[in-house]
Amino acid sequence: MQAQELSFGYPGAAPLFEAVSLAVRPREIVCLLGGSGCGKSSLLRVLAGLQAPAGGSIRFLDAPLLQPDPRSALVFQQASLLPWLDVAGNVGFGLDFARQPELGAERHHARVAQAIEAVGLAGRAHLYPAALSGGMAQRVALARALAREPELLFADEPFSALDAITRAEMQTLLVDVVHRWHSAVLLVTHDIDEAILVADRILLMGGRPGRIVREWRVDIAAPRESHGGAVTELKMDILAALLALREPSPSATRPGTHP
Ligand SMILES: Nc1ncnc2c1ncn2[C@@H]1O[C@H](COP(=O)(O)OP(=O)(O)O)[C@@H](O)[C@H]1O
Ligand SMILES: [Mg+2]
Repeated sequence: MQAQELSFGYPGAAPLFEAVSLAVRPREIVCLLGGSGCGKSSLLRVLAGLQAPAGGSIRFLDAPLLQPDPRSALVFQQASLLPWLDVAGNVGFGLDFARQPELGAERHHARVAQAIEAVGLAGRAHLYPAALSGGMAQRVALARALAREPELLFADEPFSALDAITRAEMQTLLVDVVHRWHSAVLLVTHDIDEAILVADRILLMGGRPGRIVREWRVDIAAPRESHGGAVTELKMDILAALLALREPSPSATRPGTHP
């Protein structure tokens, strides 16, 4: 996926982002990192084709993207499961919709079973959402995305409502399954540690209007948790870049700005 010079704003508000160009290569995990309210979710919706940009263009799999593409899939902070369908029903939901390539019953069943197994819910396929913990519900949401065998998975803060331990499990699971599925990922997060743990590349969004202000390639070998020094060094670098983005407060006088 390639985006060129995207701009966007909500009606009646100042431009939210401007001149945003970015690419996600096949099988690459890219994290879009930025503070709350900087426009990450809006940018993700534009990149996914859910919302039209004011300017700029997006190409997905070598064609212009003008609407959501069935070869991409989305995961959000809330699992948004259908309460009247069990786990298997939720994972398979939408697989047969018109814009999805037509699947026979057998392949449909196989895809659903495989996705459920991959997220660690084998044997739980007949549970209903009311019986699931938050972490399990998010596993179902991830399986629902995987069942589409997406070329690109868009994920908007998918783990930020989970407790720290479940979140860490899900981060590891995400990296594992997208590698198995050969999917690329664009993960939106405000969590620096999450970005460092999962990303091949981190894009930092900030400013008003928002832009991509910095980019890091993350070359730390897995498991990254065991490379504390390199992780801390990158984290400090990102923190410094985030602090540099903050608007100077009126009381702060910088050397050289006053006679
Ligand atoms: N549907 C909407 N209509 C109007 N303004 C919106 C809408 N969605 C988000 N905004 C505003 O756009 C800004 C960026 O929001 P968002 O893209 O959700 O940021 P982030 O995901 O980085 O927290 C916020 O000020 C928010 O209030
Ligand atoms: Mg958001």
